[in-house]
Amino acid sequence: MTHRLLLALAVLTSTASAVDYRTQISPIFRNKCYACHSVTKKVKGKLALDDNKITEQIGAGKHIIPGEPMKSTLFISCTLPDDDTDVMPPDGKNRLSDAEVTTLKTWITEGAALAAGAAAPAAAPTASAPATGGDGPLLKWTTSDGRTKDAHFIGLQGDSVLLKFPDTGTTHIFPLAKLSAESQAQAKSATK
Ligand code: HEC
Repeated sequence: MTHRLLLALAVLTSTASAVDYRTQISPIFRNKCYACHSVTKKVKGKLALDDNKITEQIGAGKHIIPGEPMKSTLFISCTLPDDDTDVMPPDGKNRLSDAEVTTLKTWITEGAALAAGAAAPAAAPTASAPATGGDGPLLKWTTSDGRTKDAHFIGLQGDSVLLKFPDTGTTHIFPLAKLSAESQAQAKSATK
């Protein structure tokens, strides 16, 4: 409790960096992700979260976008419902606690810095944001098997598109391959 309060205060007073990668983020990855995302064990989805590999995942268009937790697939995947096929860790097992989710979100918001006090100012985000800013336009999307849904375009992430559904307010990751050719083209043009 006290810890969370201090964390909140630190964020409010915007000190250089409230969340320390080495002591607060790395242990989360070690305990909850390394079983499948470490060069010492397995590297699923070509994603290694080891301390000396993590930089490869940070930046515009990567899994961790400094300053933009809600556009970072790594963060989103940890917040999906248990039965979502993209939830991490998979199948709702060994999920992040609420406190860990908050810590991860704060770390990314602050710039996803690896060294204490070295938070990169959130310079990258606008580069990957859709031209309209905010949630992006509300568009119609069709899946490859013909289902249609309205959702806000959030951004492209590798071979996937991030869509936010107005009814639930949640963001989901869709592999482009699961969308109709038309919707794939729409996703690509929406980024420009
Ligand atoms: C039990 C094994 C397992 C654990 C534990 C696990 N993952 Fe994964 N993860 C996978 C697999 C398998 C894939 C590849 C899925 C695919 O390619 O469809 C994956 C892919 C991913 C991706 C890429 C998704 C994409 O769309 O490319 C991210 C991000 C991710 N994991 C984050 C995490 C994080 C963060 C944790 C820890 C909180 C975690 N994973 C824990 C098995 C795991």
